[in-house]
Amino acid sequence: MNVGVAHSEVNPNTRVMNSRGMWLTYALGVGLLHIVLLSIPFFSVPVAWTLTNVIHNLGMYVFLHAVKGTPFETPDQGKARLLTHWEQLDYGVQFTSSRKFFTISPIILYFLASFYTKYDTTHFILNTASLLSVLIPKMPQLHGITHTVNMLIFNKTAGVFFKPSRRKIYEVLGSFHFYPGKRFLHKLVLGIETSCDDTAAAVVDEAGNVLGEAIHSQTEVHLKTGGIIPPVAQQLHRENIQRIVQEALSASAVSPRELSAIATTIKPGLALSLGVGLSFSLQLVDQFKKPFIPIHHMEAHALTIRLTNKVEFPFLVLLISGGHCLLALVRGVSDFLLLGKSLDIAPGDMLDKVARRLSLIKHPECSTMSGGKAIEHLAKQGNRLHFDFQPPMQRAKNCDFSFSGLQHVIDKMIMQKEKEEGIEQGHILSSAADIAAAVQHTVACHIAKRTHRAILFCKQRGLLGQSNTVLVVSGGVASNLHIRKALEIVTNATQCTLLCPPPRLCTDNGVMIAWNGIERLRAGLGILHNTEGIRYEPKLKELNVLSFEYKDDATNCLMSFERFC
Ligand code: KG4
Ligand code: ZN
Repeated sequence: MNVGVAHSEVNPNTRVMNSRGMWLTYALGVGLLHIVLLSIPFFSVPVAWTLTNVIHNLGMYVFLHAVKGTPFETPDQGKARLLTHWEQLDYGVQFTSSRKFFTISPIILYFLASFYTKYDTTHFILNTASLLSVLIPKMPQLHGITHTVNMLIFNKTAGVFFKPSRRKIYEVLGSFHFYPGKRFLHKLVLGIETSCDDTAAAVVDEAGNVLGEAIHSQTEVHLKTGGIIPPVAQQLHRENIQRIVQEALSASAVSPRELSAIATTIKPGLALSLGVGLSFSLQLVDQFKKPFIPIHHMEAHALTIRLTNKVEFPFLVLLISGGHCLLALVRGVSDFLLLGKSLDIAPGDMLDKVARRLSLIKHPECSTMSGGKAIEHLAKQGNRLHFDFQPPMQRAKNCDFSFSGLQHVIDKMIMQKEKEEGIEQGHILSSAADIAAAVQHTVACHIAKRTHRAILFCKQRGLLGQSNTVLVVSGGVASNLHIRKALEIVTNATQCTLLCPPPRLCTDNGVMIAWNGIERLRAGLGILHNTEGIRYEPKLKELNVLSFEYKDDATNCLMSFERFC
């Protein structure tokens, strides 16, 4: 093909296209467009990058593939012979020295856009499609296909088409041993937890990947003082929060600017401790202009299982720790029905008190363990049948719990044993392991029986759905294997699945707060753009309470556990 070469004049296009000033101006123009897009408040960074890339490629496409090389038209060949710029480039007629620029610039912009959009699936497809439409010049039809694909993507995002869960896509990618990491997902939440005695923070993405986490536990200090002293806890939170949040962010390699939101526990908990986390978070929110998501500590515990397992609503949750004891039906991200709670203290609190009364901190094997863990450890060496404690509330026709009565009975028993053995309070009884075994077993029976009632009640009322009923057990006490065994007997007898988050997610942590933030972002629930008037709420309220009586006796399946475990 020889179009244009017969022409005696230098093609004016060639002059323009080969001038550096023109491309510099163009590059500055695209840069300016990008800055304008970035400054539009509704556009996130990924959207600004994708738009810049797509607009640039669209411009290039129109210029190279649609606009013909006028006025470079040979008189003998006429309009029908006009070639597009890219065709002229192909035939070596003109623009040949710009060829590299035309090829390289969209590729560079493509990589930049992909990087800044963290390879989010939607942006990724948009950017790839627009790149291909420019770079495959022999296929202008591709441009039409690009538009169709883009429209499909927009429709999908708008919820018109079925949206496959990101978790599924992630699982498929994972099966190829290809770890796409955080860059594939663009909802990133920083979670901050300070409701009790742990200063914790974590960054979690939309698929439940924990990108970075850090925790400072105050257990050692509180073990020495024999319990949590709120001003001490507050001071320790203050000393550590900055470092912990920084560590979580650094580990995740996410800058605060990249976060989609900051989520923080604001209830329930110790007022002084909650205050530290809240004021620190509000400073961050203000500094980086991020949405704030206030988190209910119990709801965060309850939903943690959805980070590790595929659990659909509704499901039952049992939270048992040092500060909590409740049974609830989880019907949605913020739709909870309280079925039962402790009327006095939580089981972990009781186990801690018994462990203190038994002076287990002086026991060489248990000196660094929490009370509950020390009891579990010693119980393995003891014989529970040497003591006979009765599980409380045997006749109560509801799903509430009680532990303080049992604790008094145990206290009395310990006093009596001290007299018998002739030792003073503060020394370790020779029967400590037997007492630990009996206490652990009685607590396990009580918890399992109340839970059994709740399952039967929910089944009878059709509250749990017909298939695959799930009981989730979480909280520090849930790591106790004997208690789990009792619960397993109950779930097996009622055709339920027992699920527990891994131990590090059972206790207080930042991951569960960040994950709750992700759940709320996805559901569009409780995301604040204005934090004025936000307060922490130490007292537990707001869970809907279901008052009921379940009359049937529901303890038969536990008989074997009571007798033989
Ligand atoms: O969830 P967590 O770390 O903090 C809150 O209380 O929110 O739970 C701590 C509680 C403590 O009371 C501790 O004694 C108890 O969980 N705990 C255990 C075990 N490990 C920790 N209780 C029974 N068995 C265990 N293995
Ligand atoms: Zn907790």
